[in-house]
Amino acid sequence: MERIFSGVQPTGNLHLGNYLGAIRNWVRLQNEYECLFCVVDLHAVTVWQDPEELKASTRAVAAAMLAAGIDAKRHIIFNQSQVPGHAELAWLFNCVARLGWLNRMTQFKEKAGKNKENASVGLYAYPNLMAADILLYKGTHVPVGEDQKQHLELARDIAQKFNNDFGVDFFPVVEPLIFGAAARVMSLRDGSSKMSKSDPSDLSRINMTDDADAIAKKIRKAKTDPDDLPAAPDQFDGRPEAANLMGIYAALADIDIAEVCNKFGGQQFSAFKQELADLAVETLAPMQDELRRLMGDETHVDTVIADGVQRARAIAEPVLAEVHDIVGFLRP
Ligand code: TRP
Repeated sequence: MERIFSGVQPTGNLHLGNYLGAIRNWVRLQNEYECLFCVVDLHAVTVWQDPEELKASTRAVAAAMLAAGIDAKRHIIFNQSQVPGHAELAWLFNCVARLGWLNRMTQFKEKAGKNKENASVGLYAYPNLMAADILLYKGTHVPVGEDQKQHLELARDIAQKFNNDFGVDFFPVVEPLIFGAAARVMSLRDGSSKMSKSDPSDLSRINMTDDADAIAKKIRKAKTDPDDLPAAPDQFDGRPEAANLMGIYAALADIDIAEVCNKFGGQQFSAFKQELADLAVETLAPMQDELRRLMGDETHVDTVIADGVQRARAIAEPVLAEVHDIVGFLRP
């Protein structure tokens, strides 16, 4: 069976964008692939994290995966730091990847901003760690959003260069599984920037822990434009907020955006927002109830993670042993 690896960072609250853009898709892949779903705490510390919050977020992300319906018996939920092979293989990939390759990574440029000199070395080498995450398990498929496509291409380059350098056919060439535009959830305050846990305005996102009132309020206050809703998807030009809200509706209802346009085209935002709020509350409620229950049962979540760690290590260890042989590390 082909193997999927994917990761989410444990930084702050999970929101609707994480759910519709990532976790919900993972749930759907469970039947076709053997899956490892990783809370990437090593990636998180490329920028400063409060230690207590990091622990809590790691648990919360694992709980959200369970609440969303990932079956931890058949698949592996774990946190990255507890399988030492990630850091180890990342080091080797630091030696395989070229500076020129990393210099082209657009996400580093965005995240480091103007003050590049002051970014951590870890933030710069982040894509090498991501390649190590996947290849430590010889992952063949990686579900990612558009924003991670460049990192995945780098993982392919690293796998190929490693294979070439050592004259082996060891690491697979990873295939991205990119999900549709409907799953790209934008900020409720600005339809042209991604919904994000780091946006200072909580009104910009729907958190997985928001109750029905908060969800309804945020949708009611969501930014709109003065026109009626478009009747076809080719009329979203210059209307990012309409595209975003109708896209969220489509994703939640699991229908095509054209269908949403058919249904609401020509209507005012206010009526549509009411329907969107009802749909969001109704669709998310069962998962949110389960998430709240799991957040109150730390022992259970920790047991699931600990089990995942053991199973992940068991897959990683023989791969690493082979890597040692290939590279020429003496294993006395
Ligand atoms: N970099 C990814 C993100 O920020 C998270 C991630 C880390 C990941 N390692 C991964 C995703 C491996 C897919 C595969 O979204």
